[in-house]
Formats: sequence, structure tokens, C-alpha cells
Amino acid sequence: MRPALDHVCAIGPVMRNRQRVVPRARGVVLEPGIGTGLNLPLYDAGAVRHVIGIDPAAPFLDLARQRAEQARVSVELVQGSAEALPLQDNSVDTVLLTYTGCSIPDLDAALAEFRRVLKPDGQLLFCEHGRAAQPRVACFQDLVNPLWRPLAGGCNLNRDFPAHLNQAGFEVADMDTFYLLPRPKSVTWHFLGVARPR
Ligand SMILES: C[S@@+](CC[C@H](N)C(=O)[O-])C[C@H]1O[C@@H](n2cnc3c(N)ncnc32)[C@H](O)[C@@H]1O
Repeated sequence: MRPALDHVCAIGPVMRNRQRVVPRARGVVLEPGIGTGLNLPLYDAGAVRHVIGIDPAAPFLDLARQRAEQARVSVELVQGSAEALPLQDNSVDTVLLTYTGCSIPDLDAALAEFRRVLKPDGQLLFCEHGRAAQPRVACFQDLVNPLWRPLAGGCNLNRDFPAHLNQAGFEVADMDTFYLLPRPKSVTWHFLGVARPR
């Protein structure tokens, strides 16, 4: 049966966000938290050499494997965690992170790994939801996050993703912030853009 996550992550506005970010990937791509592989059909086959998808969840990887068979790019799927990547230093051109920064238990450790494996001229593409700019909404996110997280598979509502990037030695080169939908504001504040190693 198709996991619920796959339905939620494939709604129209979310797919439109993916279309804004995934085609910008190039070279060797690391997709941490690849999940069910919803980004796989969107890669530009002319620009991407190889995609390495990593996720701890075997059932999601099973579905990703089916999508990988249909993909126009070469794909390798690995069961593992973003906090300990089985990759060499400076070996990746693009890290693509979509809707995963909220769920990785130790985001700072994962970002340090992305920094390690990215080439100096590499890019980290992201489309993430997180801590809203409006203080009233952010305050509500802080309040409900302890209840939300266990119900939503470890997803955090209130992570300030750009601040984590900055702390990990990335420079945000261009970023769009917006509410994906008018409500609920607590889950729809988005960060979409590109960061580079400083
Ligand atoms: C909301 S889903 C997003 C999946 C996919 N990136 C997408 O855009 O559809 C979050 C994903 O993060 C994965 N995840 C959780 N902890 C992780 C970790 N430590 N390292 C890598 N991925 C992790 C989950 O298994 C899940 O597939």
C-alpha cells in the first residue's frame, strides 16, 4: 500500500515547489532523506550524472526503488542516515534536501556531513518548511511542536533552517520564503533556495 507520506508529499503545491528546485541539480547528487523518491522524475537528465539517495526507512526506499527504475538518471539507493554518510570528502556536486531538514534528528550533524561531502564549488538546494517569520506563528509552532513531532514521524514545525545552514558554514546564495497555503500557517512557512559552502 502507498504510504500516507507519499500522498501528502505529492499534493499539487508541493510538487510545484519540487519543480522549482529539483531541475537545478547537476553532476553527482546526494539526496538525503530521499523518502519515496518523488523528486526522481524531475531531475534534468542532461545535467545530472548520478543520484545517491539515502534514507533510514526501508518501506520508503522500496517505493523509491520502483521510481528509480522509471527515472531518466542513474540512481543508487542506500539505507542510512544523513548524520553519518558513507561518502568521501568533496565527492558531491549537489545536495538536494526537500522536506527532510525538519525530520533529521540531529540536523547540525547532518549539515556538517553535507559540508564535508560537497565539493568547494558545490551547491545545497533546499525546499523546507519551518520556523515562520511572523513571531505570533513561531510562538504557536514552539507551543505545539512537542505534540506534533511524535504524531508526524519526527517532523519539527519550528526549525529555523537558514540559521542552521549559516551555523554549519553555508552561505545562503538565494532564497524565497513564503506560506505555501493560506492555512495552517504553522506548517506551511517555506524556505526554498540554494546555499553554498562558505
Ligand atoms: C517528509 S519526508 C520527505 C521525503 C522526501 N525528501 C520528499 O521530499 O518527499 C522526510 C524523510 O526524512 C527521512 N529521514 C528521517 N530521519 C533521517 C535521517 N537521520 N537521515 C536521512 N533521512 C532521514 C524520513 O525517513 C523521510 O523519508
